[in-house]
Amino acid sequence: MRNQDAASLLITRTEIEKSTVKRNTAHTLKDDFDPLESVLSVDIQSLPRPGGGELLSAIHFAVNAGECLAVIGPNGSGKTSLVRAISQELTHLKGEIRLRGRAMSALSRQQRARQVAVLAQNDTPDMRLSVEDYVALGRIPHAGDVPRNADDAIVAKAIKDTGLQRLRRRSLVALSGGERQRAALARVLAQTPELVLLDEPTNHLDPPGRAELLSLVKSKGITVVAVLHDLTLAGSFADRVLLLSQGQSVICDTPERVLVSEYLYPVFGLTSFTVPHPHTGKALRIFEVPHCA
Ligand SMILES: Nc1ncnc2c1ncn2[C@@H]1O[C@H](COP(=O)(O)OP(=O)(O)OP(=O)(O)O)[C@@H](O)[C@H]1O
Ligand SMILES: [Mg+2]
Repeated sequence: MRNQDAASLLITRTEIEKSTVKRNTAHTLKDDFDPLESVLSVDIQSLPRPGGGELLSAIHFAVNAGECLAVIGPNGSGKTSLVRAISQELTHLKGEIRLRGRAMSALSRQQRARQVAVLAQNDTPDMRLSVEDYVALGRIPHAGDVPRNADDAIVAKAIKDTGLQRLRRRSLVALSGGERQRAALARVLAQTPELVLLDEPTNHLDPPGRAELLSLVKSKGITVVAVLHDLTLAGSFADRVLLLSQGQSVICDTPERVLVSEYLYPVFGLTSFTVPHPHTGKALRIFEVPHCA
């Protein structure tokens, strides 16, 4: 693509601002969030599936401040549906989802967006946006809260932390899958949320990039719910792991208790065992698909 073509695809920040409805700055963030409550508590008795049956049922867990919960399960087990239920994209559930003690369903979209950022599995941003302008979208829920230069500093830091400085003026269309995933994470960080919901945030990243991304989110002290297919990653980063099967919770406990054959075999057909690291002696968990061994 010629530079001129690429440039014409860029939407400038001024254009975004023009198209952004000016928010009411008299927001009600401080209203009644209870700092002593779990950041997230999920009590889903059932979530109906359009067309009949249930997408999710019997899922109950809480996530405390700074904790990282990995959600694992086979394709179609309900991981994305759970993320969508928490983010209130799917409503009509029987049960309650609470953020610091307040019902999510009672919060305005803006109140939620100030506290909860979502990196969705099938995000389809406007690919004409530059990295910088895409990341700046994370500041929209906070419009008017802080001076413009503080917003700019937050965006610049998110871009730096995700290693995208060199690419900040590129349009999203001209990024690789992994670079785009980093940009999506930078947008999430720029939102300065208390809770992030990450749906397969690392599937385009190389192995060091995967660990780096999760370390980065954890280092910010943000509470994390992350859908992960990489069980090794789940084992090393999560404080707890929620295993889903057919829309239901099988177990939610520490990685050591969940990532064992007793639970993984019936759900995934996987066996799991540990071997000592040849140099450090530390226990390494191995996952095996028996018929491929
Ligand atoms: N809107 C919908 N209407 C009907 N069925 C749906 C709907 N959304 C999801 N499903 C079905 O619900 C089940 C769970 O879907 P979901 O996307 O939550 O799975 P997942 O665990 O995220 O899978 P994957 O690992 O493939 O991303 C699947 O069988 C899917 O086909
Ligand atoms: Mg999914």
